[in-house]
Amino acid sequence: MATAPPEKRWQRHHILGLADFHPDEYAIVLQTTASFCDVIARPLPKVPTLQGKVVATLFFESSTRTRNSFELAAKRLSADVLNFSPGTSSLSKGESILDTTRTFLAMGADLLIVRHGQAGVPHMLVNEIKRLGSGAAVLNAGDGQHEHPTQALLDLFTLCNQLDPQHQSPESLRGIKIVIVGDVLHSRVARSNIWCLTRLGSDVHLVGPPALVPRTFAEFGVTVHWDLSPALEGARFVMALRLQHERMQEQILPSLRDYHQRYGLTRPRLTLCDPQVKVLHPGPVNRGVELASEVMEDPQLSLIDQQVTHGVATRMALLYLMGGGRIPT
Ligand code: NCD
Repeated sequence: MATAPPEKRWQRHHILGLADFHPDEYAIVLQTTASFCDVIARPLPKVPTLQGKVVATLFFESSTRTRNSFELAAKRLSADVLNFSPGTSSLSKGESILDTTRTFLAMGADLLIVRHGQAGVPHMLVNEIKRLGSGAAVLNAGDGQHEHPTQALLDLFTLCNQLDPQHQSPESLRGIKIVIVGDVLHSRVARSNIWCLTRLGSDVHLVGPPALVPRTFAEFGVTVHWDLSPALEGARFVMALRLQHERMQEQILPSLRDYHQRYGLTRPRLTLCDPQVKVLHPGPVNRGVELASEVMEDPQLSLIDQQVTHGVATRMALLYLMGGGRIPT
């Protein structure tokens, strides 16, 4: 871990994806997240870091944990938070996304957190912000099937914290076998995780039905499987993904029962993995489909609750890094 304080080295204004992230940037995010884990463990888990800054959450697509996690993170940094959801806004009166953005910028928004069903919308907002001469920063909270960088970064912290709870070092992931199982094709979480984990030298394996795990993913430096057992052999971590029916153009799978039989994670199946194996899932979980309840409920196996808790600290870290605040002491 470098000795320079993180605020001296963070260069990135917008966070749109992890495809071009550098290992040093992962190290800064991990180090800063660890500081904010300490903050949220305090009796009063609030710091004045972003006092006077305005954070707007623009969620054009539904969300439970990501949106609330961002809102809590911004509030714990003492920012003023503006929320937007299409159903209750002027979008339903015909206002365009760009005009909605412009409205938030005119109210003085410093940071825009954007989720949209269409890939590339956060990039489009960056162009609009530049055109308007505003200095606001954009954080991608999930765009179509493209990227979901904050989910992969909170996953990264959760993995590194398991491997080395004192230092959460990105180096600890080198050579570690990590399996991503399920609907990779429609998953922005999988794409961001693939960029992150391969860059940090993990041994990444993908597994699921051929229609959801195309062979072409092997181009990204991962191993593609269509059978669960060989994929799980010796795995240290298994990340399950939700079947994203809303993104499937047609009926791809015979039945959920069949899917669970072939690819669902159950306690007996996980015995093929490393004895210390841990299971992750970004949520929301289809209980009994991707994961058996016995796996979800077992704190020796499941890191799902830790992912949610670390999500708040990770998002505080990212808002801090992007917002130019002071690191808590
Ligand atoms: C994911 C998403 O929205 O991409 N969920 C999340 O952010 N926690 C995954 C999913 O919807 O399955």
